[in-house]
Amino acid sequence: MLNVFQPDLGEKEANVVREVFESNWIGKGKRVDKFEESFAEHVGVEKNQILSTNCCSEGLFSSMHLMDIQPGDEVIVPTISFVGAGNAVCANSSKLVLCDVDPRTLNVRAQDIEKVLTKKSKAILLLHFGGIACEMDEIMQLAEEHHLKVIEDCAAGVCSTYKGRALGTIGDMGMWSFDAMKILVCGDGACLYFRDPEIRNKAEKWLYFGLETKSGYENKVAQKWWEFEISSFGHRAVMNDMTAAVAQVQLGRLSEFMDCRRKVHEAYTDMLKDVTWIDLPPALQKDCKTSYYFYHIQVKNDKRDALAGYLKEKGIYTTYRYYPLHRVEAYQASGQFPNADYATEHTLCLPMHQKLNEDDVQVVVEAIKSFGKLHC
Ligand SMILES: Cc1ncc(COP(=O)(O)O)c(C=O)c1O
Repeated sequence: MLNVFQPDLGEKEANVVREVFESNWIGKGKRVDKFEESFAEHVGVEKNQILSTNCCSEGLFSSMHLMDIQPGDEVIVPTISFVGAGNAVCANSSKLVLCDVDPRTLNVRAQDIEKVLTKKSKAILLLHFGGIACEMDEIMQLAEEHHLKVIEDCAAGVCSTYKGRALGTIGDMGMWSFDAMKILVCGDGACLYFRDPEIRNKAEKWLYFGLETKSGYENKVAQKWWEFEISSFGHRAVMNDMTAAVAQVQLGRLSEFMDCRRKVHEAYTDMLKDVTWIDLPPALQKDCKTSYYFYHIQVKNDKRDALAGYLKEKGIYTTYRYYPLHRVEAYQASGQFPNADYATEHTLCLPMHQKLNEDDVQVVVEAIKSFGKLHC
């Protein structure tokens, strides 16, 4: 079976887990601190702007509180978004305002946002689809004109940049996921970026019950170290030294991962270029880097689902990301989303991970071509 996504974990990761076992401390500790420092360096920001948490979904949910989004405020979200984005807005009793996207990149554009702006718009929670940058200059300008907070869901964009800046560090808040299906993996984990270090400090408390004081031996102030105060009804959502140790090793392997993924991406593009009944992923914008998270093709006819079924029978697993939120009944969305509808009916994400080689790509491409001969 060729998986659509797959992690790449080896001896180095196994060894650090053993080291953490032997240290007798598997909770949040020095390794988490070190990982945050290394990640800040990786994305080119100060350490006091980065905070780790247990998953990127927590970042989406917490963004509502941390960006001061109130019940009743409108939050603009591209309909092609992760379910956690929609849930985060609704769970905050804010109004989920969905907008359409570009039909080929599946990224939201300033023009899509502009169409749904109202006086109540408070924030844009955008997704960089597959870690490929939205046109951020235009979006940031629009946000500035309308005093909107910009939250970047950059879950899959761990190595992506826009005009020299890491994706996720352009708006007010950004986030990357390290879950089992991403590029840098550690089981579960995530990093959050905050433009304002004060909000990072607020987030640190929010993600630990809102505690004002540290407990145990670190609490040097209180005579009775079990006493505490809180500044918010916060959560408990942290990485720990096990996940951070694995993440640290994976961070060091990112350029190796990117090399593999780029080769797979280029091999697909080269081998599929003559297949007339599909569109290949659009060329990357100038001055941008991708993390090669998805390789998404678009079947020009109505045979996308048949192709997916055919590939599955041949042991090739594919998928479509992301099922549009306007089709999810619970969100009670209104409006028209023709581009997202097109994308939803025609897009297919092919196997893409750093365990693939050119022979695997050849297998996928041959299967697509043989389907084409039969049906297209
Ligand atoms: C675009 C996007 N955002 C957020 C998340 C949530 O990440 P996590 O699994 O770390 O909560 C995912 C997970 O698949 C995702 O794809």
